[in-house]
Amino acid sequence: MKINLNYSKYLVISFCIFLSIFFVNNINSAEGGPCKDYGECDEFKYSLNDIESLQRGASTYINYCYGCHSLKYSRWNRVAKDLQIPEDIFFENLVFDKSIKPGDLMVGAMSEESVNWFGVAPPDLTLVSRYKGDDWIYSYLRAYYEDSSKQYGVNNLVYPGTAMPNVLLSLQGNQRLICKDIPVIARNGGEKRDESGNPIYQEKCGFLEVEDDTGKLSKEEFDNLIYDLTNFLVYVGEPIKATRERIGWYVVFYFLIFTALSSLLYREYHKDYNK
Ligand code: HEC
Repeated sequence: MKINLNYSKYLVISFCIFLSIFFVNNINSAEGGPCKDYGECDEFKYSLNDIESLQRGASTYINYCYGCHSLKYSRWNRVAKDLQIPEDIFFENLVFDKSIKPGDLMVGAMSEESVNWFGVAPPDLTLVSRYKGDDWIYSYLRAYYEDSSKQYGVNNLVYPGTAMPNVLLSLQGNQRLICKDIPVIARNGGEKRDESGNPIYQEKCGFLEVEDDTGKLSKEEFDNLIYDLTNFLVYVGEPIKATRERIGWYVVFYFLIFTALSSLLYREYHKDYNK
């Protein structure tokens, strides 16, 4: 008796499902939200296994952001544990209110009146990386510029008219919008030239540039600081993410091995059917 179960059909179908899930997932993670006047958001690649980066990010967050923005869905001791900081060291250095207990939620240090100060209450940032996207945050925090028409003397390309002051100004320095002469590009993709062969320049505005020696950090150091800070916000938005992604790979390997073994088993059974 010959039974043709035709397993290969199912294999192909499950492989296609796997591929489509993989690609849909990739499209979603590439979505960073529009960065408005900034143009394309800068790409951000998190690295949640870089514990030191997360530790630096947490420290920057608590020193510069926590005064206004709570993280009310996370607990102090969970962050300490995930970031591999011993609880006593963590509490000594990063928790300023001594009445806080390890298991407390990070509800913030700001009173209800803050709405009156800024016109908008500073939102809780636990989930900000989920709804704004990490690309957006990474670009936003680096896109402040001097604008004397605004309440705090600054504006933001990514979030024009933001009610948040540039709290990192002393580190970054005074960033301004400048204009530059840049070569005009001809239709064939090359630089456009006049009759005597000199490139033609055109003034374009909207470039960000930090005034020399106004900030404590160099451009690269500041970018790294924002990288760590954004990395931390990605972690806080989903503390289990690194573990989830690791387990995902184990599951994929398991399926691959299981598929190989079951197809061997299928061949073995098939020998009997064909007798
Ligand atoms: C002085 C108070 C204050 C501090 C300090 C502060 N922020 Fe804000 N932040 C605000 C306010 C107010 C808003 C709301 C802006 C708006 O919607 O116009 C905001 C908005 C944001 C948003 C956008 C959230 C959203 O849902 O649109 C992000 C991201 C953010 N802040 C990150 C940070 C980070 C990171 C730090 C630390 C480096 C920080 N903030 C420090 C007051 C503050």
